[in-house]
Amino acid sequence: RLGKSLVVAIDGPSGSGKSSVSRETARRLHAAYLDTGAMYRAVTLHCLEKGIDFADAGAVERAARELDLVISTRPDTESVLVSGIDVTDAIREPHVSKAVSAVATTLGARSELIRRQRQIIADSHHRIVVEGRDITTVVAPEAEVRILLTASEEARLRRRGVQLGGTQTAAQLKQQVLVRDAKDSSVVNFQQAADGVVTVDSSDLDFEQTVTAVLEVVSTVAHQ
Ligand code: DC
Repeated sequence: RLGKSLVVAIDGPSGSGKSSVSRETARRLHAAYLDTGAMYRAVTLHCLEKGIDFADAGAVERAARELDLVISTRPDTESVLVSGIDVTDAIREPHVSKAVSAVATTLGARSELIRRQRQIIADSHHRIVVEGRDITTVVAPEAEVRILLTASEEARLRRRGVQLGGTQTAAQLKQQVLVRDAKDSSVVNFQQAADGVVTVDSSDLDFEQTVTAVLEVVSTVAHQ
């Protein structure tokens, strides 16, 4: 199959296990991997550092256009560079998570990031697993494989809690998972599967079972 186009688009809400499952799927397929959320986070961190007003859509869009952003697409190397500076960990900090919806809901910034994401897919020779919120619908609706990875609210809150080290209160977790998803849903629909998108519900699956379920969807399509 090597050399043939295989774009795997995976969307889903926070806490669905999307990032870790997508990364592992890419490893098993010997494909590239793109975490598009990291790109929204990098723009957000840059705006915070430069004191850019999130209410100024023009300024946020300009920041997205001018950002010197390099993101690794090797599934084994998690690396995000802004102007040559490693921001891989900084973009995961709570103040970035809290502000990121402001960038995600700025349409001019979205179109710039969508353009960059399509370029990265082309640079991968169309052998890539791409995850986010609008990959199956906007970034790569022509992808060979399109999956919506969902999980119950309870499962998503539990996973995000474990991910954050169990130090958050229930209210903080809700703020981080549900409130953010509600904000982001105002510009992208990742709560329901679009036409032709396969839903994988991970609520009752562990990590390995979820990866297996995703790879099964890939192999059905790949053998057509
Ligand atoms: O998946 P994540 O939590 O790292 O995503 C960060 C933010 O970016 C989140 O608020 C949703 C937004 N996002 C988006 O709007 N579209 C994408 N394709 C990916 C992420």
